[in-house]
Amino acid sequence: MCGITGVISDSNAPFKAFIGLKKLEYRGYDSWGIAFKSCDGIEVYKAVGKIITPEKGTLNHNSYASIAHTRWATHGKVTVENAHPHTSNDKSIAIVHNGIMENYQEVKQQLLKKGFTFYSETDTEVLANLIQLKVSEKKNFAEGVRAALLEVEGSYAILALHKDTYEMVAAKNGSPLALGIGNKELFAASDVAAFLPYTKTAVYLNDFEMAVLGNDLKVLDIKTGKELQYRKKQILWTVEQAEKGNYAHFMRKEIDEQPFTIKKSIEQEKGKVEKVAELIKKAKGVFFVGCGTSYHSCISSSYLFSGIAKMHVNVVLASEFRNYKEFLKPETLVIAVSQSGETADVIDAIKTAKSKGSKVVAIVNVMDSTVMRLSDDCLMMNAGPEICVLSTKSYTSQLSILSLLAYAVAGRLNEGKQLIEEASKKADETIRRNEPIAKEIAKKFSNAKDFFLIGRDLAFPTALEGALKIKEVSYIHAEGFAGGELKHGTIALIEDGVPCIVLCTDETRPLIISNATEVKSRGGAIIGVDSKEDSIFDYFFRVDELGSANPILMILPIQLLAYHLALERNCDPDKPRNLAKSVTVK
Ligand code: BG6
Repeated sequence: MCGITGVISDSNAPFKAFIGLKKLEYRGYDSWGIAFKSCDGIEVYKAVGKIITPEKGTLNHNSYASIAHTRWATHGKVTVENAHPHTSNDKSIAIVHNGIMENYQEVKQQLLKKGFTFYSETDTEVLANLIQLKVSEKKNFAEGVRAALLEVEGSYAILALHKDTYEMVAAKNGSPLALGIGNKELFAASDVAAFLPYTKTAVYLNDFEMAVLGNDLKVLDIKTGKELQYRKKQILWTVEQAEKGNYAHFMRKEIDEQPFTIKKSIEQEKGKVEKVAELIKKAKGVFFVGCGTSYHSCISSSYLFSGIAKMHVNVVLASEFRNYKEFLKPETLVIAVSQSGETADVIDAIKTAKSKGSKVVAIVNVMDSTVMRLSDDCLMMNAGPEICVLSTKSYTSQLSILSLLAYAVAGRLNEGKQLIEEASKKADETIRRNEPIAKEIAKKFSNAKDFFLIGRDLAFPTALEGALKIKEVSYIHAEGFAGGELKHGTIALIEDGVPCIVLCTDETRPLIISNATEVKSRGGAIIGVDSKEDSIFDYFFRVDELGSANPILMILPIQLLAYHLALERNCDPDKPRNLAKSVTVK
């Protein structure tokens, strides 16, 4: 789940590629590199660590073609050798790659027999040399790339340059790749954010499609080589939306955007929510699938649908969905929830559903993402670009849309809308009121070894999501679990001073308070999230009681706590170690 970008422009292509790469850093940030055409052929610059402006004179600003890459290591350690771009033995080819070439060892053996040598441990260097071989056979750059890709097993989005050819070649299978059409310049990138400062006109490649970017743009079918028609699309997001503004971190900015994005999430196309509600009602079996934070909102949907719509729905981790293949029929409905719309396991789950003729509805935040294009219908989260690797505003948008769907199935759509609007109104004061307490708790517990989070009913998935936020950004072990499970194991880990966040609602307060009492009697420090104070609380986050919309407000103070724990521990809230915004490999 790396980020790749490339530019063909009559002015300053390396600089534009570099700027674009900075915008993709949320996709992986353990090492990076850039290549550009010069009169000596192709020059390459690579470095380990986060993207920083290279020394003056490193980037040749007169170059018209450049490709760049920011890495999340899959094959080979985090070293300069393994960083991209990778070049072929004769230095004629340079490529950047996002994805995994599953048969690279086999191909490497064949190339070794042909006298090729290798300086890195990566699959991508094997592909660069395979392209060199095919270009020498086909005597044509684009045809050589196509021939090489026909021998690749696995996922890829690649950009390739040839030292003697004007064009750049882009190709996609499984990993995201969008093209940008500017004024006398062309772009290719994993995400439109990379070229948004230069153009709002995009072309989205489908699997097994490639493009030749030169004086004009040609899109070809990789399997047949035939030229394809392409559709231009206008990008709706603004550059500013993807900027930090006056905030120190995207995480804090995106937490603050939620009063607005919660409201935006229910501004759906007229009749769209009702239409999806009808699909849910008619379906013989409904499955909600997602990963990470999106999976937690799927779990919430099972409570929302049983509580509001009196309906059973299945919730499955996207990476485990293939185990349910036998139960999928054409009458089954799968609802795929994904902020980025590019998570490989969610895409796989959709392909499994499609292989059984099931209908798929996507709930995504990125327009024209792969999950959206593979689905029969789609509800947009309308949360705007979410740059921080952690999901915050997209989570509360997902919860809002899923609540709306449950109310629509119950024939109480307007009631659902009013409730979500009330949540959006209360969100801002919930954030303002609880931030000082979050800072205080973060200072007190920044060296804690563990955090435990307890919730019942709808507050159980909220406890799971809260634990994920704390883990993702502060690297403190955190575990969320259902209050009823406390005495079946986790209570063994409670000792003096261990912080335990207890999520109380009007429905569950008596049981949760007794859980809190059991924890306190073993020395645990109780952090209450509730609409009412209780003497058992050592710390108290006050959130308004909002019934089925409680999870939307209850997660806000925990997002703030996670943020301030990260600051107390000098962790980068926007680029936590080892994580990436969208996991495009399985
Ligand atoms: C992870 C992100 O990579 O993917 C999480 O860091 C996210 O924040 C998860 O919840 C799922 O991503 P998506 O885009 O499918 O919702």
